[in-house]
Amino acid sequence: MTTTAPFDPNANHASTAPAFLSVWELDAYYGESYIVQKVSFNVHEGEILALLGRNGAGKTSTLRAIARVDDPEVRHGEVWLDHKPLHEMKSFQAAGAGVALVPEDRRIIPGLTVEENLRLAQIAPPHGWSLDRIYELFPRLGERRKQEGVTLSGGEQQMLAIARALARDIKILLLDEPYEGLAPVIVQEIAKTLNMIRDQGITTIIVEQNAVAALKLADRAVILDTGSVVFDGDAKEVLENQALREEYLAI
Ligand SMILES: Nc1ncnc2c1ncn2[C@@H]1O[C@H](COP(=O)(O)OP(=O)(O)OP(=O)(O)O)[C@@H](O)[C@H]1O
Ligand SMILES: [Mg+2]
Repeated sequence: MTTTAPFDPNANHASTAPAFLSVWELDAYYGESYIVQKVSFNVHEGEILALLGRNGAGKTSTLRAIARVDDPEVRHGEVWLDHKPLHEMKSFQAAGAGVALVPEDRRIIPGLTVEENLRLAQIAPPHGWSLDRIYELFPRLGERRKQEGVTLSGGEQQMLAIARALARDIKILLLDEPYEGLAPVIVQEIAKTLNMIRDQGITTIIVEQNAVAALKLADRAVILDTGSVVFDGDAKEVLENQALREEYLAI
């Protein structure tokens, strides 16, 4: 008979540093479709993890399951963030525990200026970064603070979406395809900003179709294939391993 030991987010992992986010044997479903299949990985505090895989591999579903969004439904597994059990929480509680999901569509609120979008994020304490600190990191948002958010360029809207997350007191940033539809020079600019955010201690998971750009930014990478983890290791290792890239990322 096999027994499952009680889950300890700090045990049984190759790395010596305790995990900040631990995803353990996560199973998630859309109706009866079994999509996220026994996904386990760790993220350490202050690192950037690239979560990669082909179209339909389950990247967005995994982020949504971590953020406790209703769909997909998590039926098994645990997710711990800084010793707090996200798997026992609703999405608003997970947000309160420090999870910030920036979805692909960015969700800038129409009719509000850049600054109003940011202030709205700060409406409930505990607050994260001040507007001054945000504008220091994103000078372009400062210049455009009176402009309606939805009239910003794609890159600027992505920056606003990230800035809005930082305006709350967050522990982990979950970015779903932040580079989508952006010119290479804008991608570089956002990568630079994400590096600076890491320097300030924020932990990030980045999901990207632009795997090379994400791997250049990230410390570590997890690759999903049909809902399961097929690689967990250094981002550099993926960049250097052509067979792995071809098989699971088609690059
Ligand atoms: N709301 C939903 N209802 C049913 N199935 C869904 C739903 N959303 C996603 N799926 C299915 O779950 C699987 C994983 O989708 P997911 O969006 O997580 O993939 P992804 O890795 O983010 O893909 P992409 O790179 O295209 O964004 C796919 O087969 C998809 O068709
Ligand atoms: Mg997706």
